[in-house]
Amino acid sequence: MKILVLTGGGDAPGLNAVIRGVYKRARRESLQSGKPYEVYGSIEAFNGVLNEPQEIVKLTSKRTAGIHIKGGTILKTTNKANPIKFPVVQPDGTTKFFDRSDELVQKLKALNFDAIINIGGDGSQKISKTLFDKGLPMIGVPKTIDNDLSATDITFGFQTAVQIATDSFDKLVTTAESHHRVMIMEVMGRDAGWIALHTAIAGGAEICLIPEIPYDINKLVKKIDGRYKNGRGFVNIVIAEGAKPKAGTITASAGEKGSEHVRLGGVAYQLSKQLKDAGCKAEIRETVLGHTQRGGTPVAFDRVLASLFGVKAFELALNKEFGRMVAYKNNTITSVSLEEATAEYNFLSKDSYLVRAAKGLGISFGD
Ligand code: F6P
Repeated sequence: MKILVLTGGGDAPGLNAVIRGVYKRARRESLQSGKPYEVYGSIEAFNGVLNEPQEIVKLTSKRTAGIHIKGGTILKTTNKANPIKFPVVQPDGTTKFFDRSDELVQKLKALNFDAIINIGGDGSQKISKTLFDKGLPMIGVPKTIDNDLSATDITFGFQTAVQIATDSFDKLVTTAESHHRVMIMEVMGRDAGWIALHTAIAGGAEICLIPEIPYDINKLVKKIDGRYKNGRGFVNIVIAEGAKPKAGTITASAGEKGSEHVRLGGVAYQLSKQLKDAGCKAEIRETVLGHTQRGGTPVAFDRVLASLFGVKAFELALNKEFGRMVAYKNNTITSVSLEEATAEYNFLSKDSYLVRAAKGLGISFGD
């Protein structure tokens, strides 16, 4: 049996632990059954297959030893090579998108893989679904620091991102207190507020702004003023990169060449200006955490989850359960159809216990 593994989309701490999990479980199967189970990796998502010459490497014990504690991905990744909407820069500098999925299917069929394990987020699993519908033996593994996939209770990378954000938040609290300042810390998460809210609860923020609950700037000024007596006080705010006010807009920068998404980032500065314009007198400083949230060593929880996902992905391949994505649900590792995997975005519900509990802790959403 020949298995291909690849990582697509933005990286997330834990990708290497999945790759190692697939390899180690396959090796165990080889040793126990006496049959060969070989695992290969495509470099930079499907580019390794599409590019000429192809870049496909055989995974070995040497290549995978100890990688579960390393951030990034040994197979490299990209979020600008969707084979169904493949970006090609034109001579005039504009970018056109082409459907290269049939070419990819042809190339993959010629390579004779018995299973293809695609580790990636929402976009990657939509690609898995298309390729499965075109006859390929696809298996998905969910990955995203944003935790925005609804078919799994949690994704690896998320806990690491929350830990990194919380560590930074803690540092901002002490300096906010010393200077009587308002500190705004911006975190990632795209259209979901999971990272922001977990960080706000873990760190003890006064204000948490998330995409799911548009904020009223005047309510925020009131909350901040209430924390300052005789000019003294301090406030720590966590804002998700996709947060928006009830009135007015936030400007997100356009996508980069080849990207299907707008590039988020910078709302902390916009909020700072909105607060000043609305009469906030306190001194404000902004911190945008950016890609630090995706880098470095995965926390233990993510290493465990990612390793279990890797083992499960191999077992799905072994049992020929294609067209499915590994998932973590109700405290167990299971799988869902690729259709279910990509059906719904995982927004943080305004009525969830998490939001209600945060309000119970005194965190304001500015609503
Ligand atoms: O989806 C993961 C994520 O880190 C988002 O939180 C963020 O908006 C985006 O990717 C950043 O993408 P890029 O790596 O292209 O800057």
